[in-house]
Amino acid sequence: MEIRIREVAHKDKETIESIIRSNENFTDEEKYCAAELLDFYLRDITKGEYIFVCAADEADKPLGYICYGKTPFADNVYDIYWIAIEPAWQGKRIGQMLIKYLEGILKKNGARMIVVETSAQSKYNKTRSFYEKVGFREASRVKDFYRVGDDKVIYVKEIGELEN
Ligand SMILES: CC(C)(COP(=O)(O)OP(=O)(O)OC[C@H]1O[C@@H](n2cnc3c(N)ncnc32)[C@H](O)[C@@H]1OP(=O)(O)O)[C@@H](O)C(=O)NCCC(=O)NCCS
Repeated sequence: MEIRIREVAHKDKETIESIIRSNENFTDEEKYCAAELLDFYLRDITKGEYIFVCAADEADKPLGYICYGKTPFADNVYDIYWIAIEPAWQGKRIGQMLIKYLEGILKKNGARMIVVETSAQSKYNKTRSFYEKVGFREASRVKDFYRVGDDKVIYVKEIGELEN
C-alpha cells in the first residue's frame, strides 16, 4: 500500500483523535493533552511551535502521526512531543517512516539534535526499542520523574548521525 506523509489538516481531526484514544499506553490526562494540542495546532493557536505530520493511506486517512517542534531557548534542537500509530497498524514501519521524514525536514532546517522523552515503565518497552532502532540513544534518566517507580528516559539523536 502507498503511504503518503503530509501535514495534518482539519479533515483529519476525528481520525487523529481516535488514534490518540485507542492507544492504551496513554493515560486519560495524556490523551486529553494530546487532543488539546491537536486542536490548538488546527486553530493555529500554537503558531508553528507544534507541527503535526501524519502518514496517510491510499484513501488519505491518517494511520499515525508525529507532533514535533523547535525546542525553545536551545540552538537548533527539536523535540518530538508525541508519536502514535493506530494500534492495528503498529509494527508495520509507519513510525519509522514518520521519523525518517522528520529527519529529512529537520536536516534542511539546520537542526543539530532531536530529543524525545518517554517513560521507563514496562508498557513502554516497545516504544524504547523503537527509538533505539531508529537511531536514538539514551542520554539520561530522571529517577521517579513521572511518579515514584516511573523514571523519565531522555533519548537523543544527533543530526550528524543521520544517513543521507
Ligand atoms: C512506538 C510506535 C510509535 C512505533 O511505531 P511503529 O510503526 O509501530 O514501529 P515500526 O514498525 O516503524 O518499527 C520500527 C522498529 O522499531 C522496533 N519495534 C517496533 N515495534 C516493536 C515491538 N513490538 N517490539 C520490539 N521492537 C519493536 C523494531 O525494531 C522495528 O524495526 P523492524 O521492523 O526492522 O524490526 C508505535 O508502536 C506506537 O504508536 N506505540 C504506542 C504509542 C507510544 O508509545 N508512543 C510514544 C509515546 S512516547
